[in-house]
Amino acid sequence: MKTRKQTVQKRRPGGAGGETHQTAGGEVPVLTTQQGTPVSDDQNTLRVGPRGPAALEDFHFREKIFHFDHERIPERVVHARGFGAHGFFENYRPLADITAADLFQRGGEKTPAFVRFSTVAGNKGSADLARDVRGFAVKLYTKQGNWDIVGNNIPVFFIQDAMKFPDLVHAVKQEPDRDFPQAATAHDNFWDFISLMPESMHMIMWAMSDRAIPRSFRFMEGFGVHTYRLVNAAGKSTFVKFHWKPKLGLQSVLWDEAVKINGADPDFHRRDLWNAIQSGSYPEWELGLQLFDEKFADEFEFDVLDATKLIPEEQVPVRRVGRLVLTRCVDNFFAETEQVAFCTNNIVPGVDFSNDPLLQGRNFSYLDTQVKRLGGPNFTHIPVNAPKCPFHHFQQDGHMPMMNPKGRVNYEPNSWGGALGGPRESPEIGFRSFPAEEQGPKVRERSESFADHYSQARQFYISQTQVEQGHIANALIFELSKVERLEIRTRLVSHLPHIDAKLADRVAKGLGFRENIQTIQAAKKPAAHLKPSKALSIIQNGPASFAGRKVGILVTDGTDRKLFDALRKEIEGEGATIEVVAPVVGGVTASDGSLIEAQQKIGGGPSVLYDAVAVIPSGKGCESLLKNTAAKNFVCDAFAHLKFVGYVEAAMALFEKAGIAADLDDGFVPLAKPRGPATFVESCRKLRKWEREKTMTV
Ligand code: HEM
Repeated sequence: MKTRKQTVQKRRPGGAGGETHQTAGGEVPVLTTQQGTPVSDDQNTLRVGPRGPAALEDFHFREKIFHFDHERIPERVVHARGFGAHGFFENYRPLADITAADLFQRGGEKTPAFVRFSTVAGNKGSADLARDVRGFAVKLYTKQGNWDIVGNNIPVFFIQDAMKFPDLVHAVKQEPDRDFPQAATAHDNFWDFISLMPESMHMIMWAMSDRAIPRSFRFMEGFGVHTYRLVNAAGKSTFVKFHWKPKLGLQSVLWDEAVKINGADPDFHRRDLWNAIQSGSYPEWELGLQLFDEKFADEFEFDVLDATKLIPEEQVPVRRVGRLVLTRCVDNFFAETEQVAFCTNNIVPGVDFSNDPLLQGRNFSYLDTQVKRLGGPNFTHIPVNAPKCPFHHFQQDGHMPMMNPKGRVNYEPNSWGGALGGPRESPEIGFRSFPAEEQGPKVRERSESFADHYSQARQFYISQTQVEQGHIANALIFELSKVERLEIRTRLVSHLPHIDAKLADRVAKGLGFRENIQTIQAAKKPAAHLKPSKALSIIQNGPASFAGRKVGILVTDGTDRKLFDALRKEIEGEGATIEVVAPVVGGVTASDGSLIEAQQKIGGGPSVLYDAVAVIPSGKGCESLLKNTAAKNFVCDAFAHLKFVGYVEAAMALFEKAGIAADLDDGFVPLAKPRGPATFVESCRKLRKWEREKTMTV
C-alpha cells in the first residue's frame, strides 16, 4: 500500500486564473480534511463552471470555513492579555518540618512548571505597558497533583471581600456605554469606585507606583497575596505568604516611556520574554516563604486574612526555598497560553487555604469562569492543564472528553474487585483539610480587624525614595486629570492626607485645586508609627549588574568599527545584549569598509525600547542625522528618560540639534576615552541617572 506522502501530485505553480498552487511531494505532506481525506485544490471552491454558482457538496470548503468561524473562544473576563512559558521549579532542601507537599521533600528535585504573566484590565489585544497590575500565575505539576499559585506582581489587592470583585472589574474596564478607555484606569468610573472604597488606598499606592509599569516580566516580583497554610505530615499548620524574587533585580519604566513603548512595540513584554528564553538567557525567580504561626497572626497589628495588608519583610523575613526557571516557549500560543486554566483551589496535600474572604471567593470563581471560557468541564484534558502524575477518577462524559475511564465500572463502592473495580480513596496519602475549628453566627459582616485602610498605604509611601514618591504623585495627577467629574477628583484627594499630607498637597496643586482639601473620615485612625520598609521600593532593590538588559547603538556610515566592537564586547561581557539602530535597516558601512548589520531603522527602534543607548555616528554620518526627526527624538528621549548614554564627539552636533547639549551630565559617558566602553557599562548598572530628573518638570 502506498503511504500518503508517496501519492503526491506533480507541482503546479499556477492555475488558470493566475493563482498559486503549492503541492505536496518529498517531505511535504499531503493536505487533508479533518477526516483525513486528501485535498486536491485548496485555492478554489467547487462550482458549476469556472464562473458559476458554488456547489453545496463542497465538503472541504464547508469544513474549512466552519472551523475558522469557530476559532475564537471568550477571552478571560480579567487578565485577558497574557504570555506564558514552560520551565521548572527546583527545591533547594527538604522542608518536611513545615509541609508535607511532595515537591518540597527532596533537595535539588525539579518540578515542571508553566507560568502565565498578564495585565488585568485590558482586552486580549491591548498593549503591554498599560498602567496595571501584572498577573503572575504559576502552575506546578507536582507528583501529587497540580498546584497553582495564582498571584500578582503586587502583594496586596484593591478589595477585602470577593463580593466586590465584579464591581471593581466593571469599574476598571471600558465604560459600558462607550467601550473606552481600553486598558486604562484613567477614567471616571474607576476613580469614582475607588474614591468610595477606602480599603483600596493601599493598593492604589502600589498601582500608582512604578510597580504598575514594569520594564519586563523578568524584572518584577510575584506574590501569592493571601495568607495560605503549609501543613506537615504530623498535621501541624504554619501560615505562609508566597513571594517570587527575580534574579535580575527589580526595574520599571517611566510613565512617559510606557506611553511611547505602547506605540513603538505594544508587545514589548511578551517579545522580551520570548527573546530571553529563545536566546538561552532563562528568566529566574526564587520562591520565598514568609512563615508565621497563630501567635504572630494574633499579635500582628493587622488581620492576616485581609488581602489589603502585607507583612513587612522586616517583621517576617522571606526565606528563599527554591528557584523557578523558565526554559521553553510554548509551541502554540492558543493551545497552551490561551487554554491554560489556573485555579486558586488547585492545591496539593501539605498546602491549605486560610479564611481570607477574597481567597474563598476566588476558589469558586476560577473554576466557574473556566467552564464557560473553555467550553465545558473537560478542560483538564487539555495537555497544559492535565496533571503530569498518574490520575484516576470516575468523572466522565461532558463536551469532548479525551480520556473517559476504560472498563465496565464507573462508580464506587463496587464489588468488581482488584484493578477491575477502579480507583479508591486513600486515607494515608489523600488530601486532608486542616481541621481548623470554626464557629460563629451566620452573618454578612466585615470584621472590625479589617478597618484600618490607611496605615499601610502610608508605610508603603514613606518606604519609597523621593524619586519614587514623585512618580506616585505624578501618576495620581495624571490619572485624576483624565477624570471629568470634579467631585470624583476631590473625593479621591480627600483620602490622601491620611497617607501623607505633602502627597495630598502635591496632588491637589497638580490638579489646580483652589480650595483646601477636606480629609475624609477614616473608619479607624491611621497609625503613624509604622517604619519604612526597604523591600517595598523598586530603586532600592535594583540589580547588581546590567545583565539581562539591552543597549541600542545608533550608528551611521563611517562609524568607528573598533569602537563598535569594543562596545559590543563590553556589553555582552556583562550579560546584556545590543540592538543596532541605523538610518536604514540594511545596516551601515563602518570606518573600515565592513558592514555593521542593523536590527532597526531609527524610527522603528526609538530609545524607549532600550535600557541605555550609545550614539556613535561618524562626523559626516551625524550631519545626515540632523534633519532626521527620529534621530533627534532618540537622543532627546534617552535624556528625558534618565538613560545612560555612551557617545562619541561627533554626536554632539545631534545633541545640539535636539536641544540637550547644554544639559549633559555624567550620565553621558564619552566612549573614545581609555576604558570608555567599560566605564559606560559600569554606569549602566545603576540603570538610570535619577539625579537628572530633578532638573526637569515632568
Ligand atoms: C489577590 C487577588 C487576586 C489575584 C492575585 C488574582 C490573580 C489572577 C491571575 C494571575 C489571573 C490570570 C490567570 C491566567 O493567567 O490564566 C486571574 C484571572 C482571573 N481572576 Fe483573579 N485574581 C485576584 C482576585 C480575584 C478575585 C477576587 C476574583 C473573583 C472573585 C478573581 C477572578 C478571576 C477570574 C474570573 C479570572 C479569569 C480566569 C480564567 O479565565 O482563566 N480574581 N486572576
